[in-house]
Amino acid sequence: MFRRSLTAKVLVAVGVTVAVVIAIYTFFVIRVQSVWWHERTQAQTVIAATLVHEYLNGVMLSDRHEEVQRFLLELRKSDEIWRGRIVRPDGLVIFSTVTQEVNCSVVTLPEGLFKEGQILQGERVEAGQRYAVAMRPILNGPSCQQCHDARQPYNGAIIAERSLAPAEANIATNRNLLIVYGVLIFALVGVVIWLLIVRLVSQPVRELLAQMRRVERGDLTAHAEAQRPDEIGELARDFNAMVRSLQTAKQELHESHAKQIQQTSKLATIGELAAGIAHEIRNPLAGIGAAVEVVADGRDPEVVGEIRRQINRLNNTLRDLLNFSRQREPEVAPCQIPDLIRPMLALVRPDAQKQRVQIVEDIPADLPAIEVDAGQVQQAVLNILLNAIQAMPAGGTLFVRAAATAGKVKIVIADTGPGIAEENLPKIFSPFFTTKHQGTGLGLAITRSIVEKNQGVITVASQVGHGTTFTMEFAVCAREVAVYA
Ligand SMILES: Nc1ncnc2c1ncn2[C@@H]1O[C@H](COP(=O)(O)OP(=O)(O)OP(=O)(O)O)[C@@H](O)[C@H]1O
Ligand SMILES: [Mg+2]
Repeated sequence: MFRRSLTAKVLVAVGVTVAVVIAIYTFFVIRVQSVWWHERTQAQTVIAATLVHEYLNGVMLSDRHEEVQRFLLELRKSDEIWRGRIVRPDGLVIFSTVTQEVNCSVVTLPEGLFKEGQILQGERVEAGQRYAVAMRPILNGPSCQQCHDARQPYNGAIIAERSLAPAEANIATNRNLLIVYGVLIFALVGVVIWLLIVRLVSQPVRELLAQMRRVERGDLTAHAEAQRPDEIGELARDFNAMVRSLQTAKQELHESHAKQIQQTSKLATIGELAAGIAHEIRNPLAGIGAAVEVVADGRDPEVVGEIRRQINRLNNTLRDLLNFSRQREPEVAPCQIPDLIRPMLALVRPDAQKQRVQIVEDIPADLPAIEVDAGQVQQAVLNILLNAIQAMPAGGTLFVRAAATAGKVKIVIADTGPGIAEENLPKIFSPFFTTKHQGTGLGLAITRSIVEKNQGVITVASQVGHGTTFTMEFAVCAREVAVYA
């Protein structure tokens, strides 16, 4: 579930980032506050030690020793967490806010205290409680030496302490507050991001997905909401455009399929018709031919010649019609390309020479064999060659090339004739389309049918004024693929 949900992934990523940012921020804020509180407490202990020191100087000189203990107790009253002691150099407590300690307890003083003569600051732990401590040595000044031995440099030390408990309580309160705020911010950011993702991404993507599934099931009426100006809107618009082009493609496919069916039935009807007509006409025509030969003697040779030409033409048309109607299934066998093309070139060469059409041949001898019905493919090649020559009555060049590419063999027949008008190009393979006085318009229809029955493809490219190129492509003989691939 988690791996598949974009919302969950983004939420976790944002959640972790926000949590880390809040944690780092809280950590630093608590640290800064902690340092501040400790320094503040320390400063307060130093102030207290200095205050006691100044007071001590005054009362000692006026010999009012007993007031010192009272002063300490007074100070303690005004600040309950404060604790003060005055000790001798050997550590014996002589005044203290804790009265029981006086003249009883001995405090261990740090070694450096009397060496430097400076205030020492630090911390101490007692019964689990932390205290900030400031120690101030009491210098044995000239005025003090009236009572104190002049040989000792210090008369003792003032120790001021302050519990760190209030500071720590403050820090804990602030930390808890920060944690509560952090959790609230975390929750708020989470909810806002969740709402944003659901509204802006999840929901529209789900709707788009639903439409895609409809298309997947073949329903091309699917339409995605494309009003939004963002990337998802763009995606929806592209999706709609894709569905539209799918609709168009489907429509075209339907139309072409319908056309194909129509074409097939048209061809079948033509075939039957042709067979019938051929049967009906062929015998009488043969009779007429024979009769003409009989009556030809002594007649005007020009008239007889014309009758013979017309009979020939009718015979040719009949042959084309029969070829078209009797198209049989191909009997395939491996064929060498030169063996297929060269005999057909030989057939058309006299016509070409008559019309001053130069034939340029490029048929390599080592082309792989193709598996086709040789007779049928030769007829297809011949039809294209004849068309090319017929297209160049005033001379030109006829190129015949063959080449092997990736498991296929291409036969290319190109001429330098007038080309085919763009509007005629889609019609040239239709039966009975012709622009010639004497044509039946069946040549290319037969050619295409042959090529397709032999698992080949035929294409045409033509440029008016420059010429026409027909290309036939057949698969290389299965057992030769490995050698020529
Ligand atoms: N090489 C070409 N150059 C120019 N036009 C061509 C060429 N090949 C075919 N055509 C055009 O295509 C039409 C159809 O050709 P197709 O071979 O099917 O019939 P046809 O040549 O007119 O008649 P038939 O082949 O039965 O004698 C031709 O009439 C011609 O207009
Ligand atoms: Mg033709």
